Amino acid sequence: MTFRIVQISDTHLSEAKPFFVDNFLRIGAALRESRPDLVVNSGDISLDGADEEADLISARALNDVLDLPTRFLPGNHDLGDAQDAPSHGEAPIDASRRDLYVKHFGPDWWWFDVPGWRVLGIDSQLLGSDLAAAAEQEAAVAEVAVTLGQRRLALFLHKPLFDQSADEPAVTGRFVNPRPRRALLAVLGGAAPSLVACGHVHQYRTGIAGSTQHIWAASTAFVLPDELQPRYGLKEVGYVEHRLMPDGSHDSQFVHVPGVPTLSIADFPGAYGPP
Ligand SMILES: [Fe+2]
Ligand SMILES: [Fe+2]
Repeated sequence: MTFRIVQISDTHLSEAKPFFVDNFLRIGAALRESRPDLVVNSGDISLDGADEEADLISARALNDVLDLPTRFLPGNHDLGDAQDAPSHGEAPIDASRRDLYVKHFGPDWWWFDVPGWRVLGIDSQLLGSDLAAAAEQEAAVAEVAVTLGQRRLALFLHKPLFDQSADEPAVTGRFVNPRPRRALLAVLGGAAPSLVACGHVHQYRTGIAGSTQHIWAASTAFVLPDELQPRYGLKEVGYVEHRLMPDGSHDSQFVHVPGVPTLSIADFPGAYGPP
């Protein structure tokens, strides 16, 4: 039986600043028609849950409206950025921010098996951070790797692992940074993921590195203009559908939902301030 995962990402939801709620609900209506086996929301679920618990609460309530089986992963706007990300005015992750996220969305890492596959979700903001939970997550990833058996591995996380290659040296807030990236790949060892699916950049992009396909999910909410962010792929809102086949093959495709506008953050200075 093919397992169908719909990945939504970067929903940036808030009741107080509801700029992106309409897009979410329209895309949500399409998901309810599509009836996937699972929805994965890959982070930046909330507009500013790292600083406003009310945003975590309203973002969770809006996801619950979909009434679909859903797993969540945190983004930098939900519990703070990784501690090794260069400062850009955003709070770094700490234990209390993480506890609040877990209170509202459940575990920030998880895994489960379906025919032919193991699906692993991790908290990319723990990578490169000094919380006790970072070591616990690493131990969980190690267990996932050594018990993988013949299954293929699909890895979900908020941030892309890298731009072009695993050995690039740049330290940024956009990708998992070199030191924690090396550590993660070392812990995975021979269990290289066949699929890595992320969000964070608000662009849909596909690429292959070694035996791994990397898929960047679009945001359901907005894109960033080229003056603020390079163009890596498609700047359009939508979602991604992943199909995991029992024989270990897979495919992923971007889905644009008709009638859902691609908003630009430049038109919403009330969200995060003027660009
Ligand atoms: Fe985002
Ligand atoms: Fe993000």
